[in-house]
Amino acid sequence: MTIIVTGGAGFIGGNFVHYMLEKYSNYRIICLDALTYAGNLETLQDVMENPNFRFIKGDIADRALVYSLFEEEKPDIIVNFAAESHVDRSIENPEIFLRSNVIGTSVLLDACRKYGIKRYHQVSTDEVYGDLPLDRTDLFFTEETPIHTSSPYSASKAAADLLVQAYGRTYHLPITISRCSNNYGPYHFPEKLIPLMIANCLNDKPLPVYGKGENVRDWLYVEDHCRAIDMIIHKGEVGEVYNIGGHNERTNLQVVKTIIQALGKSESLITYVTDRPGHDMRYAIDPTKIKNDLGWEPQVLFDEGIQKTIQWYLDHKTWWENIINGEYQTYYEKMYANR
Ligand code: NAD
Ligand code: DAU
Repeated sequence: MTIIVTGGAGFIGGNFVHYMLEKYSNYRIICLDALTYAGNLETLQDVMENPNFRFIKGDIADRALVYSLFEEEKPDIIVNFAAESHVDRSIENPEIFLRSNVIGTSVLLDACRKYGIKRYHQVSTDEVYGDLPLDRTDLFFTEETPIHTSSPYSASKAAADLLVQAYGRTYHLPITISRCSNNYGPYHFPEKLIPLMIANCLNDKPLPVYGKGENVRDWLYVEDHCRAIDMIIHKGEVGEVYNIGGHNERTNLQVVKTIIQALGKSESLITYVTDRPGHDMRYAIDPTKIKNDLGWEPQVLFDEGIQKTIQWYLDHKTWWENIINGEYQTYYEKMYANR
């Protein structure tokens, strides 16, 4: 089995590459990644010498490159993680989100049509469903929830989903889509809430909480997401959408306070800053379908997963310090200095 994993030098894609190489000793895993600011070869350092692994630096929107890769490797499965993934960056500059997330997806789909494929899997997000009100804790996102996006990021991911479904229906491409809630765990880029708060806490820097910190996210340990995708590409039904999430809802403030407590720091580090424009209030996944159809359930609860994650950041300081000491500083200054 040959699998092309796009975006495999990023957070979830990198975890997926490790997961698959460890689980399937007879699979060939090919990572195609443009190495944007979010792509990091240090994440793949452990597997670079693995004979079952190949890394290619390239853009999924580069048609010539993608076609030549398909011609050479004749992949059985594509798992598309490659995307611009940060909501705040999409608010600053939407265009790159359209190129990578929409055009990039269309190029991959065209390549699948041209060369044939056993499965194209699109890694999507629960953000395509918009948000839920805080005072309706009885409501959850199901696969039937209408698409209703808030940010340029989520709009670009929704556009990609629709395109994937259109290729499934019109060209009978064997596609699946998964929509997962917020991930956390090793190799998470420190622009996102959890790793940003861990890094700032360890450096005794202010912890910038947007608005009142009452927004709710449904946190999933990244390995549980990888296991779900593994199940979908092997056992999932062609044409289907699967929601992935594990009922681990927390307010942002609860998450930040948990990190502060675990690191023995003071809550006086919390700094309330201007809210994110269009900020989604609550995400919450109903995972009944993937549980009933494929037998997937999360194995790591938030209280355990957050401690494992904090420990990983303590044990891998060089990985994140190399990031925050580089061009990330300019980003941080731009996004947070006048907030
Ligand atoms: P990330 O930003 O950490 O990594 C993205 C990777 O894609 C990087 O390695 C980057 O170099 C690469 N990339 C970006 N544009 C590319 C292009 N045009 N061609 C090739 N490579 C490109 O993202 P992540 O958090 O790991 O998210 C991965 C996927 O999962 C995304 O599609 C995202 O929408 C989705 N997702 C993320 C979460 C989450 O909580 N992080 C939850 C649900 C779904
Ligand atoms: O739900 C899945 C989505 O989760 C993925 O599709 C996205 O790729 C991923 O980035 C994530 O989106 P969020 O916007 O939920 O994640 P983020 O870590 O940016 O923010 C989580 C919450 O924390 C959100 O309510 C905003 C808030 N926040 C974030 C940052 C970076 C803060 O309060 N302060 C911050 O500095």
